[in-house]
Amino acid sequence: MNQLLDRLANIEVEAKEKAATVKSDEDLKVARAYFLGRKGVVTDLLKMLGSLPSEERPAAGSRINTLKVQLTTRFDSLENELKSKGIDKALGEQVDITLPGRVANLPGSTHPVSQILLRMEEIFTGLGFSIFEGPEIETDYFNFEALNVAKDHPARDMQDTFYIEGSSEHLLRTHTSPMQIHVMKKAKPPIRAIFPGAVYRRDADITHSPMFHQVEGLVVDENITMAHLKGTLTEFLHQMFGGDFAVSFRPSFFPFTEPSAEVDIQCMMCRGKKVTPTGEPCRVCKQTGWMEILGAGMVHPAVFEAVGYDPKKVKGFAFGMGVERIAMLKYGVSDIRLFFENDIRFLRQF
Ligand code: FA5
Repeated sequence: MNQLLDRLANIEVEAKEKAATVKSDEDLKVARAYFLGRKGVVTDLLKMLGSLPSEERPAAGSRINTLKVQLTTRFDSLENELKSKGIDKALGEQVDITLPGRVANLPGSTHPVSQILLRMEEIFTGLGFSIFEGPEIETDYFNFEALNVAKDHPARDMQDTFYIEGSSEHLLRTHTSPMQIHVMKKAKPPIRAIFPGAVYRRDADITHSPMFHQVEGLVVDENITMAHLKGTLTEFLHQMFGGDFAVSFRPSFFPFTEPSAEVDIQCMMCRGKKVTPTGEPCRVCKQTGWMEILGAGMVHPAVFEAVGYDPKKVKGFAFGMGVERIAMLKYGVSDIRLFFENDIRFLRQF
């Protein structure tokens, strides 16, 4: 009996020590088999029972059973602890409970530049203009020469562009003006049309983008004058921005129009006062009170000759406006690059 009781006492101590070292399912499996398995230590103890005198067996048997129950309970609770630790670990790896919940994706919306373009098309079709689109890859002839910009003309410096590899004749158009040539070569006057589309230049800062959009306008008929040009553009700008601000026509130069003008509108931010309502110098118009919005003029006789029209019989006006520039003014955006970064936080505001 003494030998069995010593063994029992040893096993109880050993079991406590082993339980403290169990860190994984594998450790637990080994410990359970060692104590409670078919060839484990508890089975050995039960075998030893047979060698005891019969009067001592019940007490010894009862202690062995108690040990068996204690071990089983201890191992079961270790198993539960390991399970919940595993769940916590898995949850910790996959879920950051401080993150905001997922919201359903908002439906897409029309890009602000497209919204302005659509509005421009709406206004001009309302004034009786048709819409034509043309190629973004142009030849030097359509982009420059037919527009009275000879190979060595200094005006080319302001419209440096991207040439197509292997050809000095093919380039990405720098403006929508080549569409004037395409249309006049195909159609006879009267013409009243706009040509919207993407154009490209070697330009990049907060008001200049290497890719941007223009809307070109062309009107050709027998008795077209500068008054038609002024009336059309003033009406367009009033419809686009509302009618309560001034429009200015300032003399300028383009090789394909004569006379030429830059058209400015009164600054939307300071309303022409050069200082903001809070008394700070207006940065949007650089304290001029005006913002340049487009180039325009009466079609140059050399352009009519290039397309086979008789400049003594027909007259016309043309204009080219930057769509992003109008979007910046309309929406109060001070950096043109925001339109092309595709940041959903910016785009969602329109
Ligand atoms: C032209 O491109 C002429 N073709 C316009 C024209 C057409 C004049 C017909 C006469 C007759 P300009 O280079 O100024 O002109 O550009 C016209 C407008 O495009 C500018 O007023 C501006 O609004 C916009 N623009 C020019 N460069 C950029 C750029 N890099 N990024 C964004 N907008 C630009």
